[in-house]
Amino acid sequence: MKAIRGATTIETDTADEIRNAIQELLSAIVKKNHLTEDNIICILFSNTSDIRSFYPAKAAREAGFSRCALYSSLEPEMDGALKKCLRVLVLAESECAEHVYLRRAANLRKDLKRFAIALDGPSGSGKSTVARLLAKSYNILYLDTGAMYRACALKAIRENIKNYTEDSIAPLMEKLDLQIKYADGTQHTILDGDDVSDAIRRPEVSMAASSISALRCVREKMVEMQRRIAQEQSCVLDGRDIGSYVLPNAAFKFFITATSEVRAKRRYLELKSKGFDVDFDSLLAEIELRDKNDSTRAFSPLKMAEDAILIDTSEKTIEEVVRVIEKKIQEKV
Ligand code: DC
Repeated sequence: MKAIRGATTIETDTADEIRNAIQELLSAIVKKNHLTEDNIICILFSNTSDIRSFYPAKAAREAGFSRCALYSSLEPEMDGALKKCLRVLVLAESECAEHVYLRRAANLRKDLKRFAIALDGPSGSGKSTVARLLAKSYNILYLDTGAMYRACALKAIRENIKNYTEDSIAPLMEKLDLQIKYADGTQHTILDGDDVSDAIRRPEVSMAASSISALRCVREKMVEMQRRIAQEQSCVLDGRDIGSYVLPNAAFKFFITATSEVRAKRRYLELKSKGFDVDFDSLLAEIELRDKNDSTRAFSPLKMAEDAILIDTSEKTIEEVVRVIEKKIQEKV
């Protein structure tokens, strides 16, 4: 099921204007998403409180949406909100979710035609789970940039390189065959033609990734790939330097953190559930060492961008973090 969003505006609060605007908006959503009434489950409408003369749901019934469930609600009065705005959320069995913004609502979303959400923070802060949920919620791509550094580390391990220096790693980067692919909405990391998505999660790869990612030759290559991917579509990227270096113009930037004990506990439970034999104290020591490596390296360290919003997840559930981020994003658009 997909959640397809749409919005439009009217100029005067009359039943006819509401009817026309709703009909225009719903026809555009149906056409763009190849929907029929049979695959629409329900349509939720909301409107600003300066629209009172007709229910948008009634306008939809009149426009021929006779079987799906319809519901109208009133938005609270907010300073700075777009005037006389009608919004819809169409829940439908659909392959795609092409959102539609018409009239003055289109201007409001110009910056959102293609947008990036940068989620930075230390290991185990919950970034990747939050990023995955946000990508699902906004129906955009999730790019796990840590997986790319992990793949570089795995390559070095496979080549039996012990000391990571510019001299030892630069030749490896030149011949690196790394691809990021998506299947069923999940990122797959392909190294030299092999799907290494599981192999790169091994604890020994984590430490190696932290060391190798300090090298300029590695970062330059990965950042170039990340920028190329982010240029082609809207996405959520999680990493260490997304808001501060990779995409300094990202529309939304968050820095997610938690105490090292909380992060080590989360990693411990995650690895245990995957069947790895791990010890909490060594994981804590490893996390603290990786924090130190990641934030003290000379080139593009783990750093909160000046315009990022800080979120401490130590006392929050993942759902709470997602809700806070979605609220901040909503406030900004
Ligand atoms: O997020 P992660 O644990 O999968 O990342 C693995 C390592 O990669 C991490 O120790 C730091 C590095 N990294 C980075 O330097 N920059 C990024 N944008 C992402 C990860």
